Amino acid sequence: QEGDATAGATVFKKCATCHVAESDTNKVGPSLNKLFGRTAGTHPDFAYSAAMKAAGEGGLVWDEATLRDYLHNPKAKVKGTKMAFAGVKDDQEITNLIAYLKQYSQ
Ligand code: HEM
Repeated sequence: QEGDATAGATVFKKCATCHVAESDTNKVGPSLNKLFGRTAGTHPDFAYSAAMKAAGEGGLVWDEATLRDYLHNPKAKVKGTKMAFAGVKDDQEITNLIAYLKQYSQ
């Protein structure tokens, strides 16, 4: 099933209290602009948890597969993350969210 970026914009409302995608601004969470290909825990000027920095040092890079895993269950993928979010259970919602985020990753 293809991702629907417009539907993904609606899903992103779950993220938008803490994240922006369309610009480089950090909020409670790091900017998700140009996320794909980013090593975890490396956006400048954001105070990540030790766990997220260690995940990046261990080789975690954000792509479709790693993002899908993380968004299903953030605390299982990165034990000790300070992202206070339970995750997105619906796989199609994650597919749409990825299509949305890719628009801001060119
Ligand atoms: C980290 C995505 C919801 C707060 C991250 C990262 C991603 C992400 C990909 C890692 C970024 C990086 O390594 O630079 C999302 C998505 C969400 C969501 C797609 C919605 C589905 C939230 C919410 C909050 C939040 C609701 C606040 C309550 C944070 C924080 C971090 C983070 C504080 C840094 C984690 C750490 O250093 O351990 N998020 N997030 N996120 N997010 Fe979210």
